[in-house]
Amino acid sequence: MRAHISRLLLIASVWSMCTGAGDWCYQSQVTCDSHCKGPESWHEVHEDCMKNRQSPINIVTRKTKLDHKLTPFAFQGYQQAFSSTLKNNGHSVKVSVPHLATVSGGNLGAKYKAVQFHFHWGDKGGPGSEHTIDGEQYPMELHIVHMRENFKSLEEALKDPTGVAVLGYFYEESKSANKKYDGLIQALTKVESANSNTTISGISLSNLITSEKNMTKYYRYEGSLTTPYCTEAVVWTVFEIPIPLSKEQLSAFSSLKFLDGKPMTKTFRPVQPYKGRTVYRSGSAVVMLSFSLFLVCVCIALGLSQLY
Ligand SMILES: *[C@@H]1O[C@H](CO)[C@@H](O)[C@H](O)[C@H]1NC(C)=O
Ligand SMILES: *[C@@H]1O[C@H](CO)[C@@H](O)[C@H](O)[C@H]1NC(C)=O
Ligand SMILES: [Zn+2]
Repeated sequence: MRAHISRLLLIASVWSMCTGAGDWCYQSQVTCDSHCKGPESWHEVHEDCMKNRQSPINIVTRKTKLDHKLTPFAFQGYQQAFSSTLKNNGHSVKVSVPHLATVSGGNLGAKYKAVQFHFHWGDKGGPGSEHTIDGEQYPMELHIVHMRENFKSLEEALKDPTGVAVLGYFYEESKSANKKYDGLIQALTKVESANSNTTISGISLSNLITSEKNMTKYYRYEGSLTTPYCTEAVVWTVFEIPIPLSKEQLSAFSSLKFLDGKPMTKTFRPVQPYKGRTVYRSGSAVVMLSFSLFLVCVCIALGLSQLY
């Protein structure tokens, strides 16, 4: 009996050594000697990580609700080229947006200004997005983080349940390289080690994303930050049409390193439960076009019937 208890104590102490003190990390970094808290333990970093509107989620398209209020977005300052710091922060690679760039429309209810953008990716172009569509995981995902216009800092905005709006874009592997990403991907080679940074210039938000026409199809739900503190202050927009990058371009992100020097790969949180939430989808441009074609046909038919 005593031997049994001491064995239990031994197991318990090894367990606490493995899961003990340390920073948060992704599942790909969890090993017995890494001392970091993987996604299953993020609630120990902050209790919000177990709350009821967590992100990312798997979007089940047949369960989404069509919402005609989800109209196209209006972007301002997205085309302005800027210089900024590209930083490997040990969890991702992040660029702050130093000028005024805003998004409104799309039933956001307010204007939101861009603060920073960062990425989530897999291993050399393998599955790596945070959101998934009908269970499909894309190779990478871009998050452009905005805060509502009336706030002065992200910290302040995170105290409001709709203080932050994140625009999420998927990537897909394309045969040819996406030239608009040359500068950014070139700069990645300068921030391979954790906590390093470099200056990038001549980038614009509109160059990173897809055309406005391709941004009319999207999903909307209320969620959270996808890293600790997992704050539930985010109005999520996930666009349906992905951004193309070649296999080589996608793989370039896998050359970055975590703090322990291991390759920075699979930097995504697993999908979270819905807990009663609904995902809304925008009316697709195709549906609207065919409806107006239908009206044109009705009018022509009526016109013809008047003639004869
Ligand atoms: C970039 O790195 C330099 C030198 O390591 C450091 O002094 C500076 O604070 C860093 N900048 C940012 C924005 O992290
Ligand atoms: C828009 O989407 C289409 C279809 O997916 C794609 O062929 C086209 O390249 C996209 N346009 C831009 C600017 O990304
Ligand atoms: Zn993110």
